[in-house]
Amino acid sequence: MKTYRIALIPGDGIGKDVTAAAWQVLEKVAGKTGFKLEPTSFPWSCAYFKETGAMMPADGIATLRGFDAILLGAVGWPAEVPDSVSLHGLLLPIRKAFEQYANIRPHRLLPGVEGPLKAQEFDILCIRENTEGEYSGAGGRVHQGTANEVAVETSIFTRAGVERILRFGFEQARARRGKLASVTKSNAQKYSMVFWDEITARLAADYPDVTVTSYHIDAMAARMVMAPESLDVIVASNLFGDILTDLGAAIQGGLGFAASANLNPNRTAPSMFEPVHGSAPDIAHLGIANPIAAIWSAAMMLEHLGEKTAADAIMHAIAAATETGIGTVPGKDKTDTITNAVLNALA
Ligand code: NAD
Ligand code: IPM
Ligand code: MN
Repeated sequence: MKTYRIALIPGDGIGKDVTAAAWQVLEKVAGKTGFKLEPTSFPWSCAYFKETGAMMPADGIATLRGFDAILLGAVGWPAEVPDSVSLHGLLLPIRKAFEQYANIRPHRLLPGVEGPLKAQEFDILCIRENTEGEYSGAGGRVHQGTANEVAVETSIFTRAGVERILRFGFEQARARRGKLASVTKSNAQKYSMVFWDEITARLAADYPDVTVTSYHIDAMAARMVMAPESLDVIVASNLFGDILTDLGAAIQGGLGFAASANLNPNRTAPSMFEPVHGSAPDIAHLGIANPIAAIWSAAMMLEHLGEKTAADAIMHAIAAATETGIGTVPGKDKTDTITNAVLNALA
């Protein structure tokens, strides 16, 4: 029987609840479809940091490299460990080390979920550059603590990095409805964003079947609210993609519905699957986190592994659950109730 080795990193807060839920669904669908998932769980988190002084061991990346995929919950517990330490100690290094340069985040309304907008029909695929740009970690502070202090955070955009994410976006648009929106801020940022726009325009010639439009990030934010149905595939830099995908989550009913895949499209290292949301300290321990984003992310993992039938089965089960209203009103249903509804729909 085909066996996939999965690294599980539940992380902090509700990350633990939602990965447990996703894992139950994965096990059930694997049993029904006829493949095996072999989990190895890693306790890497802020609690682990407090015990050991690091978010993961020095050989953490080497350990993960041997897996077929990584399923992650959420990282961050700012009351005890600064976010700049925890995220740069675990989540961000994984994305970078494994060249998971395409962070894909679908935004559409599940059946039974009422979004906050008048528009109830949209199907957006946000593709976020995931390894460079504003998240390069380059910069520093001088004259710290003085009136003359200066802080610099340098965004690094490489031709190779921008080209590969745009090509990925063009390919996705070609396989969908043929529309690509490239998002920058080239009216204000005259180096990196003009560079991005130039590459977009040049690559467009290779994809005559795709209609490409460049938008400024501010205008795109408004468009996602005013006319989400006009959008198909969006490609954006690391930071802009991060912000737009919380907006995307909001228009699809909330962060509990927003799934994501950190893909290494060349398959030279494992890809990582995680909900868009974080550890939600405000609701952690209440048992009310919506596990749908994590379960949907698990379906994206199966699709990436080549188990499309099983991935579709999960998406159908999620839809069957939300169609009856379960999980659609924030805070109303317990995590377990929602998970059980999906499990029952799989049966
Ligand atoms: P958050 O996404 O954790 O929470 C934002 C709001 O959305 C909160 O009100 C929360 O209760 C709600 N929410 C999130 N997920 C939900 C779910 N599944 N069901 C119901 N409600 C949900 O964002 P934040 O509060 O800015 O961040 C908290 C911590 O998580 C920070 O340490 C942050 O850095 C980290 N974070 C991690 C990731 C990640 O690991 N990928 C992503 C985002 C934030
Ligand atoms: C996300 C998160 C992370 C990001 C944070 C926690 C570093 O917000 O995955 O969307 O900005 O990439
Ligand atoms: Mn985010």
